[in-house]
Amino acid sequence: MSVDLSAQIANMKVNNLFLNASGIHCQTEAELDDLMQEPVSGAMVTKSMTPQSRFGNPLPRYYRLANGSINSMGLPNEGFDYYMDYLKTHDQIKPVIVSVAGRSKEEDLAMLHTLQDDDSYQGLTELNLSCPNVIGEPQMAYDFPAANDLLKEVFSFYKKPLGIKLPPYFDLVHFDQIAELLNQYPLSHVNTINSIGNGLWIDVNSETVVLKPKGGFGGVGGSMVLPTALANVRGLRQRLNPSIKIIGTGGVTNGRDAFAHILCGAEMVSIGTQLYEEGLGAFERVTRELTDIMEAKGYELLADFRGKLKVIED
Ligand code: SIN
Repeated sequence: MSVDLSAQIANMKVNNLFLNASGIHCQTEAELDDLMQEPVSGAMVTKSMTPQSRFGNPLPRYYRLANGSINSMGLPNEGFDYYMDYLKTHDQIKPVIVSVAGRSKEEDLAMLHTLQDDDSYQGLTELNLSCPNVIGEPQMAYDFPAANDLLKEVFSFYKKPLGIKLPPYFDLVHFDQIAELLNQYPLSHVNTINSIGNGLWIDVNSETVVLKPKGGFGGVGGSMVLPTALANVRGLRQRLNPSIKIIGTGGVTNGRDAFAHILCGAEMVSIGTQLYEEGLGAFERVTRELTDIMEAKGYELLADFRGKLKVIED
């Protein structure tokens, strides 16, 4: 039996639902080239960009944990123009999602105005409102009135496909509130979840934190965040307009995890910590594992089981 892993978000059609999580192997031209040439993944996303290049936070800023990772990268990136030049000068064998993360509303608006005015750019953009690691700056997607103000202004001029990268939510009331807010706007998608912000890991031998920035606080990712990621994909899929697709991100280490994200309603699935630790070969392995599960269950299309999670009835 052949299995079809195609998916679509706005004008972006892909033959394979997997992509990198933003921040993983997508900062420099060489890394972007690697992702572009990687033969299995269907799309790729850039490192979240700011108007000017940034070194990001001081090192050490990434630490491997037994069941995942903790990081406080602080948006290291080469700057908006670098990524725009990349898109103009490289063949796009696969679609590239442009991730933008201004350090203020004004920076977000400036980058989105440039994208709107650039006729050569018709791709998908993702506004990252959820980076937990920029020192002194809160995650805007936890401030609902501020997020609403920003989106109102953005959609007064932005007419191209635009999604949002969200942080995890932990209370069903917050799922209700963010979905009600987002449903007012013609979003192409939400990408959920960013890392679980402001975790802390300690080396007990030295009695010291493992990350330098923010006194050791950082975003938690990898397999330990899978339950939170699944809850956010499921909770938002149940509440968002059907036209707003979901990229499921968080805790995917194998085909079963990806299958679970799709059961919860993900249109596409991105891989973060596992891709960083394993390398780009993870795409081929996870795709093979997902294909095997679908074949064993007799599913030909992702739509055969997407969003069809069963609950336990009385
Ligand atoms: C970072 O701190 O650079 C990663 C977090 C993010 O991309 O939102």
